[in-house]
Amino acid sequence: MMSSEIINRPNDLEAFWLPFTPNRAFKRAPRLVAGSKDMHYYTPEGRAVLDGTSGLWCSNAGHNRNAIVAAIKRQAEELDYAPTFQFAHAKAFELASRIAALAPADLDRVFFCNSGSEAVDTALKIALAYHHVRGEGGRTRLIGRERGYHGVGFGGISVGGIVNNRRFFGTLLAGVDHLPATYSREHQAFSKGEPEWGAHLADELERIVSLHGASTIAAVIVEPMAGSTGVLPAPKGYLDRLRAICDRHGILLIFDEVITGFGRLGHAFAAERYGVTPDLITFAKGVTSGSVPMGGVIARQSIYDAFMRGPEQTIELFHGYTYSAHPLACAAGLAALDVYRDEGLFERARTLEPAFAEAAMALKDLPGVLDIRTVGLTAGIDLASRSGAVGARAYEAMDRAFHDEGLMMRITGDTLALCPPLIVSEAQIAEMFDKVGRVIRAVT
Ligand SMILES: Cc1ncc(COP(=O)(O)O)c(C=O)c1O
Repeated sequence: MMSSEIINRPNDLEAFWLPFTPNRAFKRAPRLVAGSKDMHYYTPEGRAVLDGTSGLWCSNAGHNRNAIVAAIKRQAEELDYAPTFQFAHAKAFELASRIAALAPADLDRVFFCNSGSEAVDTALKIALAYHHVRGEGGRTRLIGRERGYHGVGFGGISVGGIVNNRRFFGTLLAGVDHLPATYSREHQAFSKGEPEWGAHLADELERIVSLHGASTIAAVIVEPMAGSTGVLPAPKGYLDRLRAICDRHGILLIFDEVITGFGRLGHAFAAERYGVTPDLITFAKGVTSGSVPMGGVIARQSIYDAFMRGPEQTIELFHGYTYSAHPLACAAGLAALDVYRDEGLFERARTLEPAFAEAAMALKDLPGVLDIRTVGLTAGIDLASRSGAVGARAYEAMDRAFHDEGLMMRITGDTLALCPPLIVSEAQIAEMFDKVGRVIRAVT
C-alpha cells in the first residue's frame, strides 16, 4: 500500500511543466491517472475512467494489452538499445516490412523516428532532398493547409495552420503557403462521414501553383482527416483532386496519417479508404498502440531509389535520430500489429462506424450543439462558445466528464473529440455518448 502510494501519487506538482495544458488550473485541480487496462484508465483512488480518446489518439488496441506488454518486457531483457546509424537489429527490418505490407501501392520504404512531429519534419526533409538529388533543387516551397495540425517541430508548425501554435514562434520556415481549410458549417453541418461539399477547395492548389510557379514547389502536406483541429474529414473527392494537381505539376503529396493510420478510419491507412495514393505517409501513435514512442515515414520505392546513387559507402540521406527504430518501440510495434491483425481491429472500426455515427448524432438536439461530425471511430462535437470565453465551455465539459462521469475526452477550442480504442463495444459506445450528453447538458 505504502509503496504504491509513493509510486502513484506525486506529492509536488510544481516541477512538471505540462504540455498543451493550462498549468495553473491543472495544478489546482489535477486530473490524474495511475493505471490502465483495455478500455479504461484508473485514477489513483481506483476509480474507472472510460477512455474516449485512445489516450491521445494513440492507444488503438486499448491499454496494457498482454501481448504488447510481454513483448516490451522480453525486448528490454534481450536488447535494450541499439544504434541504427551504421548498425541495426532484426526487429527494425521486420517492423519496416510489416508496415510496408500494410501501406498502399509501392509505398514500401520506411524511415523510423519517435513521434508524429519528427515524422512530419522527416517527410518534409525527404521531399526537399528528393527534388535536390534529382536536380530540381529549386523546389523548396512546402504547402500546408489552414487548420492543419502537423505537430510542433518548426517544419510542422510552418505547414500547420493553427494560429496559437504559430504566432509565438517567430518567422518559422520560409517559403510556405497554405490551402484553405475544408470546413464550412454552412455547407457541411451534421455530416456523417465525408461531407458532400468542399472538393472544389482542392483547386486552390492550382491558384498557389500559378502564384509561385510549379518549379518552386516541393510538396503538399495534408491530414486525410484533420483530427486535432476538431475532426474534419476530407470532403468527397477532395483528395483525388489534390492528387491530380500534384501529378500535373510534379509536386509530392504527403498524407499526414499520424492519427488516421492504424485503423482509426477502418483501414490500415486512410489512403486505402479514399483510394488515393500519396508519395509519402507519416505515421506515429497507433503503430505501437501508444505503448512506446515511435513515428515514421513510408516512402514510395521510387523516392528511396532516387537517393540510392553515388558511391555505395556514402550516406544517402543526412537525417536520423538516436532512437530511430528503438528496439522497445519495434517490439511494441510488432506486437501491436499482431493484435490489430489477430483481432481484426481495422475491420472492427469499419463495422462499428455506422453505430458510432448514429450514437454521436443522437446528441444533435442538445442545447448549444452547433455541429457534429463523424468518420471512422471519430466524432467532433462543436459547442457554442460562452461570450468572451472561447474554450471555457468545452474545458468545463472535459473536466466534468473526467471527475463526474468517469470519461476521458479531448477538447480543442469549444469542440469535443471522441476517438475510443478500436476494441470499444457497442455498449461502451452507448455509455460514452450518454456521458457526453450529460456533460453537455451540465455545461449549457
Ligand atoms: C496529424 C498529426 N501530425 C502530427 C502530430 C504530432 O505528433 P506528436 O505529438 O507525436 O509529435 C499529430 C498529433 O496529434 C497529428 O495529429
